[in-house]
This record gives sequence, structure tokens and C-alpha cells, in this order.
Amino acid sequence: MSILVRFPGSRFAPVCVPKGAELAQHLDIHNAPVLFGCRTGICGTCAAVVEGDLKPAPAEEAEVLDIEWEGIPNSRLLCRLRPQADLTVIRVLGKKA
Ligand code: FES
Repeated sequence: MSILVRFPGSRFAPVCVPKGAELAQHLDIHNAPVLFGCRTGICGTCAAVVEGDLKPAPAEEAEVLDIEWEGIPNSRLLCRLRPQADLTVIRVLGKKA
């Protein structure tokens, strides 16, 4: 089963990703407009504001987000996500491709 990752307001078409898969790997394959650095949730390069049915960020992820983007609701590190449902990337906070 697949989910859809959307990038509204950009020229990128929605990307189809296997449910529960490592999001970073599939966004790279589709050349999506998100850059990744460490891929381990440390550098913050992949931070974005997202909408979707996600579990709350674990403490380590929340701590990284608070350092650079404190108070921005729905911010997440995309390299840490393995979405189980459709996801919308509203705004990339980290570096853009
Ligand atoms: S790529 Fe470094 S935190 Fe996601």
C-alpha cells in the first residue's frame, strides 16, 4: 500500500511512497524539493512544516526542531518520518533543493 506526499504551491508533483517507508530515501529518488544532510535527525537540514496523520515528534527530534525553529507548529524532520498516511509538505524550513 502506498501513500501520497504532496508539495502544494510548488512545481513538484505528488510523490507516491510505500506506507511506512523511509521518507528521505523516496523523496531523493523522486528528486523532491527537500535536501537531506545527516539523515539521522541531527543537522536540521530536512526540517519542514507538514500536515498529516503523524505521531508526535520523539524528544530527540523535538529538541533539534526547537533549536532552530522553536514555536513553528507542525514542524518535523523529514528524515525521521516513516508516514503511515498521506502527508503534505507545506513549507520547507531547512535548505531548499
Ligand atoms: S537530514 Fe539531518 S536532520 Fe534530517
